Amino acid sequence: MLAIIGGSGLYSLGDDFEVDEQASRDTHFGATSADILQGRWQGFPLLFLPRHGPGHKVPPHRVNFRANIWALKQLGATQIISINAVGGITSEMPPLTLALPDQIIDYSSGREQTFFDGDDGRVTHVDFSWPYSAELRGILLQAGLQLGQGLVASATYGCTNGPRFETVAEIIRLRQDGCNIVGMTGMPEAALARELEVEYACLALVVNWAAGIEGESISMAQVLANLEQGIDRVKALLQAACKLIQT
Ligand code: HPA
Repeated sequence: MLAIIGGSGLYSLGDDFEVDEQASRDTHFGATSADILQGRWQGFPLLFLPRHGPGHKVPPHRVNFRANIWALKQLGATQIISINAVGGITSEMPPLTLALPDQIIDYSSGREQTFFDGDDGRVTHVDFSWPYSAELRGILLQAGLQLGQGLVASATYGCTNGPRFETVAEIIRLRQDGCNIVGMTGMPEAALARELEVEYACLALVVNWAAGIEGESISMAQVLANLEQGIDRVKALLQAACKLIQT
């Protein structure tokens, strides 16, 4: 079953999502960000979890990624599409761009990063050369083509810790490292999904130029305005992707 993890700006799928069940937040890794909703979106069965909780109460560095991914897997998720608001670093990533990253660099710290802590006496290293599912990325690309919606088909996502935005020097470093976009929630989510063998892709919505790329500072009002403007396109793309998965 497909699961959608909603990021900033995507806290619900709207009235056309018919909820059949609401799963408790408890896991042995702690509580998920919110109740996980199981239902049908225009007839298509899926799971939905808003990463920052209802009303955006959970900041990026406090998201219980392990609980979220574990609970989704327990409820039958075999595929996850993650929605992430990001800052644009390179010139092809102006605000309101939709991008499908194919690589990630993790600059976050202090987060629980793995299900394989060695507690069971085993050491496990999963392959993470290509962190995102080629199949799901292909479906999202095709959905974009169907809707005439331009998507940047390849990008490197730099994951910082937040909750503050980056300094200008940090963004210069990320750009030198090859990052095209920057966000705070891409990791360890993608790696945890890989550890549980759940197909995972990220659909990133650019909501601001990263620090120092344009202008003196990042305006939260502008970020929120761009989120509001872009989220309907994200939903349309997700619906088209669901139809493609169904057929
Ligand atoms: N940096 C990090 N995370 C973000 C940004 C940014 O500029 N915009 C949205 N999420």
